Amino acid sequence: MEKRQQWDSRMIFIFAAIGSAAGLGNAWRFPYMAASNGGGAFLIPYFIALITAGIPLLILEFGIGHKFQAGAPTAFSKVKKGWEGLGWWSIGVSFVIVTYYAVIMAWVFDYLWYSLSLAWGDAPADFFLNNVLKLSEGPGHLGGFSIPVLIGLILAWLAVYWTIRDGVKSVGKVVKWTVPLPIIMLGILVIRGLTLPGAIDGINYYLNPDFSKLLDPKVWASAYGQVFFSLSVAFGVMIAYASYLPKKSDITNNAFITAFANCGISFMAGFAVFGTMGYMAAEKGASVAEVAGTGGIGLAFWVYPEAIRLLPFGSVVFALVFYIMLLTLGIDSFFSLVEGVVAGVSDKWGFGKKKTTIGVILVGFVISLIYATKGGLHWLDIVDRYVNNYGIIGVALFETIAIGWIYKSRKLREYVNPISEVHLGGWYDVLIKFIAPLALAGILVWNIVQEIIDVTQGNAYGGYPVWAIAVGGWLVAIVLIVGSIILGKSKSSYVMEEASEEVE
Ligand code: PHE
Repeated sequence: MEKRQQWDSRMIFIFAAIGSAAGLGNAWRFPYMAASNGGGAFLIPYFIALITAGIPLLILEFGIGHKFQAGAPTAFSKVKKGWEGLGWWSIGVSFVIVTYYAVIMAWVFDYLWYSLSLAWGDAPADFFLNNVLKLSEGPGHLGGFSIPVLIGLILAWLAVYWTIRDGVKSVGKVVKWTVPLPIIMLGILVIRGLTLPGAIDGINYYLNPDFSKLLDPKVWASAYGQVFFSLSVAFGVMIAYASYLPKKSDITNNAFITAFANCGISFMAGFAVFGTMGYMAAEKGASVAEVAGTGGIGLAFWVYPEAIRLLPFGSVVFALVFYIMLLTLGIDSFFSLVEGVVAGVSDKWGFGKKKTTIGVILVGFVISLIYATKGGLHWLDIVDRYVNNYGIIGVALFETIAIGWIYKSRKLREYVNPISEVHLGGWYDVLIKFIAPLALAGILVWNIVQEIIDVTQGNAYGGYPVWAIAVGGWLVAIVLIVGSIILGKSKSSYVMEEASEEVE
């Protein structure tokens, strides 16, 4: 058995955790979620979700990763015999996400290249869908690969291999760049966005509070979902990262720093995006709502490119700044997901880290090929929706039960407090045992009820045929859950040795 690696310093660990948390979710999910769920008023459910569930779960994951010095499956098996499957479930969710996150990174690689000539011309949406993706008419038509996407995909996986080839040693070197760089790029884009004429209308659209939205359960479900996705909790990633900490390490304060840095980046992204949208609306004589679209992929690959084209000067430079930001923001989230899976697999079977890394990357690459086909975007959209609405929320719910009730959150506090700067009081038990699980269970039930209503009324998600939803959504969920139970019951070959204390 290889000796467990350790981070070089506390700072590098925090960088890696922030790198995982701050990803595409901050750049293109948060701003739109705020804008469409009550603007400034959305910050209320968002912060409540952060305090009642996001940060407590982050502390939980840092805590058990550190205590048990293992990836999620092994860590949960030590929490309580029989709970290993929960760890596999979280890793399964990660694995599903990583296969399509890879393809999004592939597009970003492509767009770095296209930026040099502003290749999208004056029809960015058409360029993205027809020239780059060569999008087919529906999920039933895969229709071969899109070559540019395939090339980008190979680059993306190679970059990940290069980053994690030596585990936390090489990761530490990369996050020194990939964490500060996107913040600098984002700063440039915020200044550019806010100094454009019309920016103020965009910011109004982003933050103008609509308090009536707070009565809508959907807004609350979105806030909780966003907090989990954004903090990378419930994926096994933070457990794996914390398992590489030395014995004496702060837990709680690291969690607060990670969480607040991550939120700050999200909030900042809103100013860059909507400042620019305000300008674009003014240029086109349209409303911000009309030009801004719905965020996500559309924002990154056709709305923002369109705005860049309309800039008074320096379009190529700002295009490069934007895609370098997306690349550096996303790549450390991408490799953290891979690292979470690698840690889980190698801890369970005692395979060498290097071999496991290559194996996971190869399997991940092969599966991600589905999304590099011409029908790929349809599948990406379906799978993304279902893993987010059910997978993450389900894992988080069971984590709170496993630690709050089975292991006992009091015991976790007693472990964490002596090594941490900020001490957890009895309030932590209330959050982990009651508030977080009740909120999560509420959201899960709400999502399921909505789903049933939508499907029975013939409004399946995104207008996709029900069979595609059944395969990309429900089947994936069943395979993940059944697979996790089977893996959780299978024999492990690791030696239950005490974690070593010395730094290599
Ligand atoms: N938190 C990342 C984002 O906001 C996504 C992610 C989720 C990364 C889970 C790792 C694990 O984009």
